[in-house]
Amino acid sequence: MANLAVFASGNGSNFQVIAEAVRGTSHSLSFLLYNKKDAYVLERAHRLGVPVYLVEYAGKTREQAEREILALTERFHIDLIALAGYMKLLTPFFLTSFKGDILNIHPSLLPKYAGVNAIERSYNAGDPELGITVIKIDKGVDTGPILFQTSFKRSPGASLAEVEAEIHSLEHTYFPLVIIRELDKIDQTIPNA
Ligand code: GRF
Repeated sequence: MANLAVFASGNGSNFQVIAEAVRGTSHSLSFLLYNKKDAYVLERAHRLGVPVYLVEYAGKTREQAEREILALTERFHIDLIALAGYMKLLTPFFLTSFKGDILNIHPSLLPKYAGVNAIERSYNAGDPELGITVIKIDKGVDTGPILFQTSFKRSPGASLAEVEAEIHSLEHTYFPLVIIRELDKIDQTIPNA
């Protein structure tokens, strides 16, 4: 068994599919970390019975907020963190202090369209092929090693909303699978797991 934490602060559709998928495994989704009081992801977590922790950043240094988060990861022996729309960059302090891997889902074919508004930017660029990437995060913005990537050919005349829906559907299918694959790998390295 390996322990996962999901960090999300928005709608939480990825959080939901991850929570549902992890339920069917020997692994544990220990908690949802969020940083905005009114995030819709919170409702999803309550419905799914996943413990939640709010760490707000306002009035604190980034390092103070990250120390609180780190304490939670230590308390729950977190092996893997999945970022699913967290919308805050983790600093080198956090990245070197947390000993496990941190995965992020990004709605473009990295290295294209790193950073914000990736779907809109790839749509507006008229790229014939669009897709998603799961990376292991490092100190850069969306620059870490690619663990998984998949793409689709854009239908002629597809609207931005249609493209967005297709991208989210790929995320929902594959992000949980990549997470579970990584949890399985971690499990194999834990003595007497
Ligand atoms: C996803 O599109 C993901 O690629 C990006 O943030 C979005 C989160 O969506 N990092 P949701 O909150 O999971 O619905």
